[in-house]
Amino acid sequence: MAVIPVELGGRSYEVRVGSGLLDDLPAQCGKLLRKERVPIVTDANVAEHWRETVESALLGAGHQPRWLVLDPGEATKSWRGLEGLVDWLLAEGVERGDQILALGGGVIGDLAGFAAAILKRGCGFIQLPTTLLAQVDSSVGGKTAINTGAGKNLVGAFHQPSLVLADLGTLATLPAREMRAGYAEVIKYGVLGDADFFAWCERNGARVLAGDRGSRDYAVTESVRTKARIVAEDERETTGARALLNLGHTFGHALEAETGFSDRLLHGEAVALGTVLAARYSARRGYLADGDAERVTAAIDAAGLPSEIAALDLAADGRALAAHMLHDKKMDAGTLPFVLLGAIGQAFLDRQVALDDVAEFLDEELQAH
Ligand code: NAD
Ligand code: GLY
Repeated sequence: MAVIPVELGGRSYEVRVGSGLLDDLPAQCGKLLRKERVPIVTDANVAEHWRETVESALLGAGHQPRWLVLDPGEATKSWRGLEGLVDWLLAEGVERGDQILALGGGVIGDLAGFAAAILKRGCGFIQLPTTLLAQVDSSVGGKTAINTGAGKNLVGAFHQPSLVLADLGTLATLPAREMRAGYAEVIKYGVLGDADFFAWCERNGARVLAGDRGSRDYAVTESVRTKARIVAEDERETTGARALLNLGHTFGHALEAETGFSDRLLHGEAVALGTVLAARYSARRGYLADGDAERVTAAIDAAGLPSEIAALDLAADGRALAAHMLHDKKMDAGTLPFVLLGAIGQAFLDRQVALDDVAEFLDEELQAH
């Protein structure tokens, strides 16, 4: 098991990455589980595969698991989902000093984390991420949110978990498409800040996706180490370090908005396409060598992830896609910071990007390749 600390003073916690952590849940949580009753939030897909494991681990240690099983999918991360969850937690008598267990992917983690942030002005929560995306990204760093009619993740809070247990065994039941989508976030860490890790991804991506244990463990552990370091440096995305984690997200978000935040394009797939677009746009602006933009595209393509927006058959043109970016929550006094690349492993924030230029670039991309 790898233990990766997230150093945040009084809000510090550990991310533990290993196999079989759910079987050992009570011992892993230790004194964090201070009562007999333990509230656990999950979704129906995750419950089908992992409820029994968690249930018997908790029962074996004398706990009484209390389950809320929600509908799978992005729609659960909503005002309605939040209201239902908070009402349930109140009915269960959850107190400030208690921990809510979030067993699932980014949807469950973001929703349960936000409920924990506001319940009785803030109680504890433990992330038990079961998707690759949640293990390498969303369970670490304390961003919690729900979606509203106006857009994704627009209502939320920074609220750090008390502990993250990334049980690699849970990835065995994850559908292949979800595994690939999570892998986009793994490649992202290499592209934005670590050329050696990117080269490792080029060599080992297929092994990670095929479930090779050593490669998968290394990919998750290294990703978490990078995320933990960046979060410790810039918890609330104020100095710019954490903003680099949004590589590919501004383009990706526009594509998700255009495809209705639906199964047509999963979040990780949008990040993959967005990362390719950020690399190509960086090359167009003269920051990145064309060959490096091609390397990024090739690595994403080799992982079976989408790399050409022309293949999406969008009705929108470049201007309409760029218009979605105006609703980005990173908009700041009329400018939208873009994460661009000076080289593979060297991302930077450009606050001077003109959306007209982005629209023109997207028009070319929609027609090309
Ligand atoms: P998800 O939670 O919807 O999970 C994907 C699918 O896999 C769901 O159908 C789920 O039921 C199923 N599933 C989960 N674990 C499984 C398992 N082990 N076996 C079988 N099926 C399983 O999606 P996700 O990709 O994990 O997360 C996406 C969400 O994360 C988005 O809402 C996004 O905004 C958010 N996100 C948040 C952050 C953050 O920092 N908070 C970062 C990135 C993404
Ligand atoms: N997923 C981006 C962040 O946590 O900052």
